[in-house]
Amino acid sequence: MHTYEIKPLPYPADSTPGISAQVNTWHHDIHYASYIKGRNEVEQKLDKMRESGDWSALRGVKLAESHHASGQILHEVFWDMLGGHGEMPEGDLKSQIIKDFGSTENCLTEFQEVAKISRGWSILAYDTGDKNLHIYMTDFHDQAVPWGAIPLLTLDVWEHAYYHDYGPKRADYISAFMKIIDWNKVATRFIGIKNFKFAYSAEVATKAG
Ligand SMILES: [Fe+2]
Repeated sequence: MHTYEIKPLPYPADSTPGISAQVNTWHHDIHYASYIKGRNEVEQKLDKMRESGDWSALRGVKLAESHHASGQILHEVFWDMLGGHGEMPEGDLKSQIIKDFGSTENCLTEFQEVAKISRGWSILAYDTGDKNLHIYMTDFHDQAVPWGAIPLLTLDVWEHAYYHDYGPKRADYISAFMKIIDWNKVATRFIGIKNFKFAYSAEVATKAG
C-alpha cells in the first residue's frame, strides 16, 4: 500500500501577488489536502479488497483514485511553478513553444483562453509520445488529456482557486496568475522530461517490423 503526504506550499502564503494569503491557505490546507486524504483512503480500500476478495465497490474506488491522484498532481505543479514575475527566459522551452505554437504570444493566449472556458484546469503539457507541447483543457482533474502528456504549467480555475479574491471576474484572476509564473521553473521542468520517450503503439509497431 502506498501512502501520500501533503507537500507544504513552496513559499509563504502571502507571497503571491494577485492570489491572497487566505485563498492560498484554504486552497492548500483544505482543498489540496482533501485529495491526499482521498488518495490514501483509496489505497486503504484497495488493500482491504485484495485481502477480502470483495471487489463489489471497485468502480467507485477506481473513479475516486483517478480524481484524487490527478487533483494531487495538478495542484502540486500549480504551486511549484509560481513565485516569479511572468517573464519567459530564452532557452529550450521558449524555442519549443515557438516551434509548436508559432510564437510565445500564441501559446500564452491559448493557455488563457482555455482557462476562461474550462471547468477545471488549463494545462501546458509536454506529450512524451509525439514530443510536442500542447495546451489541454481538463474538466475536474482527470478528463480530456491523452496518455503520456506531462503537465508543465497548470492553472486551476475551480472556483475555490479565485472566487474569494475575484468573484465572477475569472479573467482578472487569470491575468494575475500569468504575472507570477516562474518560467525558469517551468523551463527546468521541461528539460527534465523532454528526453523521456513514451513509446506508444505506432513506435512499437515500427520497431517490431
Ligand atoms: Fe484547486
